[in-house]
Formats: sequence, structure tokens, C-alpha cells
Amino acid sequence: MTLIVNLVEQLQAVGRRSELFNISLWCIFGFGVLKATTFILRTLSLIFDLFLLPSVNYSKYGAGKGKYCVITGASDGIGKEFAFQMARRHFNLVLISRTLSKLETIQKELQGKFGVEVKILSVDISRDVPENYTAIREVCEGLPITVLINNVGQSHSIPVPFLATEEKELRDIITINNTATLLISQLITPIIVSTAASSKCRGLILTMGSFAGLIPTPLLATYSGSKSFLQGWSNALAGELRDKNVDVELALSYLVTSSMSKIRRASLMIPNAKNFVSSTLKNVGRRCGAQERFSTITPYWSHALYHFIIEETVGVYSKLVNSINYTMHKSIRVRALRKAEREAKKD
Ligand SMILES: NC(=O)c1ccc[n+]([C@@H]2O[C@H](COP(=O)([O-])OP(=O)(O)OC[C@H]3O[C@@H](n4cnc5c(N)ncnc54)[C@H](OP(=O)(O)O)[C@@H]3O)[C@@H](O)[C@H]2O)c1
Repeated sequence: MTLIVNLVEQLQAVGRRSELFNISLWCIFGFGVLKATTFILRTLSLIFDLFLLPSVNYSKYGAGKGKYCVITGASDGIGKEFAFQMARRHFNLVLISRTLSKLETIQKELQGKFGVEVKILSVDISRDVPENYTAIREVCEGLPITVLINNVGQSHSIPVPFLATEEKELRDIITINNTATLLISQLITPIIVSTAASSKCRGLILTMGSFAGLIPTPLLATYSGSKSFLQGWSNALAGELRDKNVDVELALSYLVTSSMSKIRRASLMIPNAKNFVSSTLKNVGRRCGAQERFSTITPYWSHALYHFIIEETVGVYSKLVNSINYTMHKSIRVRALRKAEREAKKD
């Protein structure tokens, strides 16, 4: 600080001693102090969120009081883990997914282990038909729902240029990630609002975003755009529902081991679903790595640091980040095509 003040004084001495010059220097100095202060505050907030604050208490969302949590894409990966960890927090559940047999197994296990009510519904969300939503309405009608976890999502089977993306894959991604998320949220949100009002607790709508939406991702263009859409939609909804006691959060994640990511072994940057969900639920309502964003959380510590560093340096929309991302996905595509070739030869 003393160094900067000295510099300002020296510049004043040698420079033209006009009033305008002095004002400009103090403006630059003030701007620097403001930038440094906000950076320090964001860094402190990141450290507190990730490493120092205790877990969020879910009694504010009605945990243990017979309230329900609806989870989409709940039969595998991250969604299945949300089901287990919300049951452990004493929420009854509505689990929506495609494969009935997987849902039945999870239902049995959760009811036996945690003594909670578990309703299941098997629908293929990629079919954009009214029957899906009628079925969801029928299962959820009359239940005291306070939490909705919009987890269901689909990505490209392998990185692919936009112009070579098959129409079915493109349509499925948009239908599952966007249309279904919007329509299910329109069905469930009024129930959450009225349950929160009548039970004097809060509601929560948590939607799974992705680093592919945070950082424009060449060769995953449609998936990237669909997750970016969720960022804007979720933030806008957060504003609308703030005075209705409903928290709306978008959870951002880099890779997690699952059948979607096709990664089996966890590492420093790639947690398993259990650890990812545990850090998400511990921190709901806080920013972690997404310090610059309202109603958004990057909960897993290594993802959070990655997000924070990019945002504080080159920025998520920079040419540099875009080029690095492109190179990385080109190499993933080459390896995926080679693997497919090997498997085709085996057959
Ligand atoms: N894994 C990652 O690296 C990663 C990174 C960032 C964000 N995300 C996001 O996290 C969310 C969960 O991903 P995940 O990795 O856990 O995926 P996953 O392991 O592939 O699980 C997807 C879940 O969604 C269900 N589902 C898929 N298509 C469906 C359809 N047409 N109709 C109904 N249900 C359907 C699946 O049901 P069935 O089991 O019956 O098929 C399964 O329960 C997604 O929104 C994804 O975009 C994941």
C-alpha cells in the first residue's frame, strides 16, 4: 500500500500538475483498492465455504417432518447418490427415472435402511409427450414436497462437431436437459411454494449444471448450450422465488465418475458421486467456487478452486480457455473413435 502511495506521489511530482491529472491518479488508485478488496473478500468467502463452515441444516427445508424431495434421474450416478443422502437426512422421496427395475431396487434399499417413504416413477423423459407430465403430476399430487432436485441430464455419446451431431442426439439433449427440467419445475414449484407457506419452512430447487455450461465447450456444443441455458433460467427463477421462501440453486460440476462421464476411477479433479453430492448438500446456499455468481454453487473443493482461478484470471469466455477446451475434447474424440474401432473389430 505504501509503495502505491509513494508511486502516486512521485507521479504527481513529475507529472503535469493539473487537477485532472490528480483526479485520474486517485481514481486509478481507488479502483485498484476496490479490486483488491473484493478479491480478498471473495477468497476469504471461498475458504470459509469450502473448509470452515459446518454443513447446512436441512431442518429449514422440513427434514424429519414427513416432507418430500423429488429427484429426477435418480436411478444411477449423481441422482442415486442424492436419493441416499436426502433419505439419510430424513426426507421422503419421489424418484423419477427411466429403468423401473433400478428404481425398485433403490426403493427397497432406502425404505429398509432409512425408514422413509419412497415413491417411484419410470418415464422416458426424452419423449416430449404430455403423458409423462400427467404421470408425474399424479405421483406428486397431495404430497408435502419441499425439495426438487433437477438432476436428469444427457450429454453427447462422444465429443462430436456440431455439424456432425445426429438430430436425435441433439433433440434428446435439449428435451431432457431443458424442456423436461422446465416442465417438471412448473409442476412441482407450486407444490413447494404452498408446502413452504403452510409448514413455515423453506423450499429448495437444486438443478445440476456443468462446467460444460460454465465454459463454452467445443465438440460438446449442444450439451454446453443446454447447461448454459440452465444457468440463466435457474438464476432468473431464483429472483422470482426469493420472496416466496424458495431457494433456487444451480450446482456446477467438472467431471464426476459415472456412466455419463464414462470415468470409473476417482482422482483429485474427478470425485465419485458420493463425495460430489456430499459436498453439494453440505454447502447448498453458499457459493464455494462460484463466488461471482448469484444462486450458483461449485461445491467440490478441486472444482471450486479451478472455477475460482479461471474466473479471477482469464475468464470463462476467453479465447485461451476456449482453445484449451477444444484441444482437450479433440483428443478425447480421437481416443473414443479409436476405442469404438477396436470394439467393432472384436465383434
Ligand atoms: N458425471 C459428470 O461428469 C457430470 C459432470 C457435470 C454435470 N453432470 C450432470 O449431472 C447430472 C447427472 O449425471 P450422471 O453423471 O449422474 O448421469 P448418469 O450416471 O448417466 O445417470 C443419469 C440418470 O438419469 C436417468 N435418465 C437418463 N436418461 C433418461 C431419460 N430419457 N428418461 C428418464 N431418465 C433418464 C438415468 O436413468 P436410467 O438409469 O434408467 O437410464 C439415470 O438415473 C446430469 O444432469 C449431468 O449433466 C454430470
